[in-house]
Amino acid sequence: MRQIAKTAPALPENAPAADRPQENDRAHRVVVDTQPANSRRPARLELLQNLSGLVLALFLVTHMLFVATILISHELFYSVARFFEGGWLFGEPQPALVSMVAAGVTGLLVAHAWLAMRKIPAGYRQVHAFSGHRRRLRYGDTSLWWLQAMSGFALFFLTTIHLYDMVSQPQLIGPYESAERVWTGGMWPIYLALLFTAEVHGGIALYRLALKWGWFADTDADAGRRRLRRIRHAFSTFFITLGLVTLLAYIDLGRAHADRGGEHYALPGHVAVEHGKS
Ligand code: HEM
Repeated sequence: MRQIAKTAPALPENAPAADRPQENDRAHRVVVDTQPANSRRPARLELLQNLSGLVLALFLVTHMLFVATILISHELFYSVARFFEGGWLFGEPQPALVSMVAAGVTGLLVAHAWLAMRKIPAGYRQVHAFSGHRRRLRYGDTSLWWLQAMSGFALFFLTTIHLYDMVSQPQLIGPYESAERVWTGGMWPIYLALLFTAEVHGGIALYRLALKWGWFADTDADAGRRRLRRIRHAFSTFFITLGLVTLLAYIDLGRAHADRGGEHYALPGHVAVEHGKS
């Protein structure tokens, strides 16, 4: 809990009267944190934020690989999509399972964003002060933190659009269905923006986590940092390239399939049906 107290930093005895705090002088009010100095709450919140971010980053990495199976074959992407519907376990495909996972990811995303909000400068004054520090310091990792905060902000909105589709239309995941959403459904600009923001945000997040927790640490701190930067660049470049090639494959298929809108994909030898008629 925080409260405003009318206390002021001590001034030298001979300071001019004009410099001394006046009763009700807002400029001399300081914010006092009434939380005990040894409170573990900030550390716990930090740990929760780190953990939720790590789970989301790992989810994104595996998700990009699954979505990219379209590059190998339509059959493979179709089989991956059906696998997550649990037909092999329940006898019948259960698209609701995908909805539930997408709803869980949405909840985790909201919790992660809420935890991260604690550290984002609030209001014009704080943003102005932070920008000043950033310009004066000219330290790459401080600018990186700002890029992470801004990309996280954009990501929140972009991801919720995509997650809404995944929660509400889990049965429409497949080569034709996905390609139709990307091209005819006009989702490709959202995916393009989502791809860049997610990979930049995720790459910086993993880099900062590795620094904080000492993963891949080196006895020479500068050498360790340089190595982590190289890993971060390689990570972002790999996933952005993979994502772009994958997105192009969906666009290509969507364009080729545009005159057969509503058709479900079916494995070779099976009959394809239209949405809502299966
Ligand atoms: C359980 C949740 C999710 C499911 C089931 C899911 C599923 C899919 C599927 C099937 C596609 C292919 C296009 C389509 O069908 O519309 C796709 C594309 C994409 N998804 Fe997700 N997604 C989920 C969460 C996320 C999250 C949290 C992010 C980012 C933080 C994300 C980022 C992307 C991107 C960037 C693409 C474009 C494909 C690419 O360029 O490789 N997705 N997703």
